[in-house]
Formats: sequence, structure tokens, C-alpha cells
Amino acid sequence: MTNMLEIAGLTKLFPVRNRFGRKTGDVRAVDDVSFSIEKGKVYGLAGESGSGKSTIARMIMGLAKPTSGDILLSGHSITGETGTRAYGRKVQMVFQNPGSSLNPRRTVGQSIAVPLAAHGTPLGEHKRRIAELLEMVQLPTDFALRYPHELSGGQKQRVAIARALAVAPQLLILDEPTSALDVSVQARVMDLLVDLGQQLGLTYLFISHDLSLMRNFADTVGVLYLGKIVETGPTASVFEAPQHDYTRLLLASVPVISAEEEAMRPKIPLIDGEIPTAEQLIALRDGATPVSQRTET
Ligand SMILES: Nc1ncnc2c1ncn2[C@@H]1O[C@H](COP(=O)(O)OP(=O)(O)OP(=O)(O)O)[C@@H](O)[C@H]1O
Ligand SMILES: [Mg+2]
Repeated sequence: MTNMLEIAGLTKLFPVRNRFGRKTGDVRAVDDVSFSIEKGKVYGLAGESGSGKSTIARMIMGLAKPTSGDILLSGHSITGETGTRAYGRKVQMVFQNPGSSLNPRRTVGQSIAVPLAAHGTPLGEHKRRIAELLEMVQLPTDFALRYPHELSGGQKQRVAIARALAVAPQLLILDEPTSALDVSVQARVMDLLVDLGQQLGLTYLFISHDLSLMRNFADTVGVLYLGKIVETGPTASVFEAPQHDYTRLLLASVPVISAEEEAMRPKIPLIDGEIPTAEQLIALRDGATPVSQRTET
């Protein structure tokens, strides 16, 4: 079976410039990343801030150009495709901040009509289709007349999801879709995404630094650290038997819900509750005491 999405050796360098604008080097924001997602599955990309998650999403969306490597959608390279309407119909993205992703001067209905019009839905069908999409994301159909400032954060994110679904995409990229929301709202938006995924047979690339969400949502996870995937596998096995120190540290900082989970929790000391740098990790692995835990003599 062909994978919905396949990423091979994807690399993105950003130039580093000094204060005179001269290039002094490169940041390897994404470094030789490969993974694939089967149709109808959820791939979770985890990793701390700056690890390269959004850069990967932006390259898949065609918003950033890879330095090297390949991205295949249903077996076809997307090079030169991403700007086309046909591509936009297949791949859509939901961003982290629902507030800034909706135009404040457009009603909800007008916002959802933008992709409908762009992809050739006849004007006469817009009203019915907007109502249908609002129902899909469990919002009252009269919300079509509201403006973004009249909605809560969770409701705004539902509208953003409705808008992404307007063109019936096959792959939906979710870049921290709930991190700007309260925990209780977060859970309901995640439930909605799970339901929609099953109903519509969607394939998801789910990006989050929140491993407890990942555990409930993703079939497979990849853990990104400094632009590289350091660990990948079925979600259950990565959570039960993490192979990489960095994964263990990420897991050790996940809140524990049950005694069962407490028993599974890796026993690794956290350095002041922070995710450590690569140097600190090496020191930990080699048995040295983290600098911040040493007592002055
Ligand atoms: N346009 C850019 N120009 C230069 N450097 C960039 C650019 N975009 C991202 N970077 C750098 O690339 C690295 C990865 O950034 P990216 O936004 O992909 O991380 P992230 O994992 O999405 O982080 P977060 O969890 O904070 O959203 C960072 O070091 C960032 O500073
Ligand atoms: Mg990001």
C-alpha cells in the first residue's frame, strides 16, 4: 500500500547572519528527517520548542523550501505542486493560534466561504456547505453570522478546523492545535478531531510538545530533537520502553494520571524540571551530576 505521506532525508538549513548581515553559518533546523504516514493514521511529531516541528509542517505545506530531501504525497513528489489548487485540496493545516488565523473582519461564514470559492464550489451551494461544516465541528449553524471576537478560543479553533475541512482534504496537518486552549477545552477539541478523523478517513500529522495528548491520539510517534528524529515507533512501545534519553526525559515531565502510569514512569532526575541540553544529557548518561544539582563545597 502506498503511504499517504512519505518524507525522505528532509533537511532545512537557515542562514545565520552577523549584525552586518553577513552570513556566518547555518542552523540545521531540520536534519535528515524521514518518516511516513499510512492513509487514515495519525503520526505524532513531538519535541521541545525549536526542535524543527513547524519547519517540517511548513515544508509539507509548501510555505518553506527544503534544502534537500523529498516529500511524497500518495507516492508523488510534491516539488512544484504545493502552490496549485489540486495540492491545496489534498493538504490543509490548522495552526496553533486560532485568534490570528481567522480574519477579524470576516464573519465565520465568510471565512469558510474563502476556500469554497477558491476551489470552485458554486455560490448557490455555499450556504448549505457552510452549515454542514459547522455541524461537523459541532457548532450551531447560526454561528456563520458571528465575528471571531464573538467566539471563545475553542470555538475559534473549531471554525479553523471547519475551514480546513471545507475542501475535503486527505491530509490534515495540526500544528499544536490545542496548545493555546484551556485543558478542558483542549480535550473536547481533541475528541472532535478523533471523531472527524474516523468519520472522514483523514490522515493526520499531529504536532505537539504535549506527550499526554500524543499518547491518546497518535498511532505512531517520532521524537524530534535538534532537528533530528531520535526515536520513532508505535506510540505504545515508545511510551512503555523509550530507547533514547531525550524521550525518557520528555516522558518524565508528563503529568501522571494513574498508579499504573506512575509505575511505568522512567526514573530519571530532571534538571530543575527543564528539558536539558545535549551536553547535559551526555553528562547524565555518563553518570555525572548535573551542574545545577551540585552543591557548593
Ligand atoms: N525563517 C527562519 N529563519 C531562520 N531560522 C528559523 C526560521 N524558522 C525557524 N527557524 C529556526 O529553526 C529552528 C526550528 O524552528 P521551528 O519553528 O521549526 O521549531 P518548533 O519545533 O516548531 O518550535 P515551537 O515548539 O516553539 O513551535 C529554530 O532554531 C528556529 O529558530
Ligand atoms: Mg512550532
